[in-house]
Formats: sequence, C-alpha cells, structure tokens
Amino acid sequence: MAAINTVSISPLSDEEIPISFQVLSKSFGHDAPFVDIYFPNHDTPSGQAQGSKRLTEWKHSSEASTFLKATIATTACDEGSQQTIIGLAVWTLMKEAPPAELAKVENVEEVWPDEADREFMTRLWRDYVVPRSKAIEDSGGKGVYVLELLTVHPDYQRLGAGTALVKWGTKAAIEQELQVVVEGTPVARRLYENCGLRTKIEEMRFDVGEEFAGRRKPKLIFMTRGPFHFVLA
Ligand SMILES: CC(C)(COP(=O)(O)OP(=O)(O)OC[C@H]1O[C@@H](n2cnc3c(N)ncnc32)[C@H](O)[C@@H]1OP(=O)(O)O)[C@@H](O)C(=O)NCCC(=O)NCCS
Repeated sequence: MAAINTVSISPLSDEEIPISFQVLSKSFGHDAPFVDIYFPNHDTPSGQAQGSKRLTEWKHSSEASTFLKATIATTACDEGSQQTIIGLAVWTLMKEAPPAELAKVENVEEVWPDEADREFMTRLWRDYVVPRSKAIEDSGGKGVYVLELLTVHPDYQRLGAGTALVKWGTKAAIEQELQVVVEGTPVARRLYENCGLRTKIEEMRFDVGEEFAGRRKPKLIFMTRGPFHFVLA
C-alpha cells in the first residue's frame, strides 16, 4: 500500500530527463497536435530517445531556462519511502524574440526527416512565436517569463503539481516585475486563470496553407499575467 504525501518542486537533473520525457508523453498523449508534431513519435522508444536528447541539449544551451520537476514521496510498507517524478515545467526568461525560422533553433532534417512534416512544423513554428515575440518587444528590453512546457502525469493530476510548477514561475516573475506568458492548452486554462493569467488571444492563428488543410492544427490560448508595478507610497 502506498501513501501519497505533498508535492515538492525542485530542479531537474540531466539524468532525470528521460523519465520526465515519458511523463510528458503520457500526459499529452495525442490530445495536443503541437506536441505530436514537435516531438515526433514521442510515445515510442526512438521518439523518446530523440525527445530526451533534444531536452538535454536545450537544458545545456539555455542558461535562461529553468527545468523543474514535481515529485511526491510515496511510502510503500515493504520498500520504504521514495520520490517519484510526476511533473515537469520549463520556465525561460526571454529577452530577445525567438527566431521565426525553425531551422535556426532545431536540427530540422534530423528531427523531421519527412519533407512535408518538416514544412508543416516550420509553418506552425513561424506563427507560434508571433504573440510571445510581440510581448518581448513590448517589454522594452526587460524580457518576459515564458512557461515553455508544463506537464503532469495523468495518474497524478488534480493533486496540485501543475499549480505548484506554475506558481514557482509566477513568484519569480513578480519578484522581477516581469510579465508571464504561455501558449496554453484548453485543459490548462482554469489552472492558469487560478494563477492570475488572463486570456489575450482566445485561439492562436496558424496559417499553414491549403496543402496542410487536412492536418490537425494546434488549439492554443495565449495567456499573460502582469507585469504589475508596485509604487511605494
Ligand atoms: C494541465 C495540467 C498540467 C494540470 O496539472 P495538475 O497537476 O492536474 O493541476 P492541479 O492539480 O494543480 O489543478 C489545479 C486546478 O486546475 C484545474 N484543472 C486541472 N486539470 C483540469 C482538467 N483536466 N479539467 C478541468 N480543470 C482542470 C482545476 O481547477 C484544478 O483545481 P481542482 O483540482 O481543485 O479542481 C495537466 O492536466 C496536464 O499535464 N495536462 C496535459 C498536458 C497539458 O495540456 N499541459 C499544459 C500545456 S500549456
């Protein structure tokens, strides 16, 4: 029998990336078209190996990104207590707009060997970064705090892990008077609202062209919080 304790938030180590990627894959399933194309075959061993490699490269190359895990302590009568990873979030302080050209940030031939998949992803990416780039421009050089990834294992949802991972970032943003931005899935909307984020774009636009009209397009809500400037009396 296992007793579930409270959720803890702490930095993710490199060694924990493969298990976290499995959490990501289980959590999104095939409900999120953007994740399905961005992490090809994420529910297969080869897709998970590639996804973990990309997360590791990202973690090593971006000093401005904080990779967090959510864990719970489970206590089994016969095995003692252990920490189980149940969630993952990546928060990035972005001071410059990300390149609109996907090939500048990803090894596109390797990740999307199929030319049509590559073109589709490239077009999605171009539109995906538009709202956050505008927010970064509007920040006047301060930058914005972007929640780039949030995922909680389906077996451990509704225990507060998602909220704890989001509040970690909103607290850091408040301390630095930064705006928080996220391209959110509909399922996460209530959580974000509870954490003070508000909808800025109800459904983000993806103009992928006629040739991709038959493909599933992402349904994403662009949400922001703050910045709030406190004036001392
Ligand atoms: C969105 C997600 C991260 C929430 O994680 P979580 O650990 O379950 O979140 P919390 O336990 O902190 O939930 C807080 C509140 O959010 C809302 N919420 C969370 N999951 C919800 C769901 N499936 N449907 C409706 N509301 C939900 C509820 O108001 C909930 O409070 P309550 O349980 O007291 O009613 C998780 O469902 C998930 O990983 N989903 C798939 C991946 C995804 O879409 N990630 C977001 C990318 S932008």
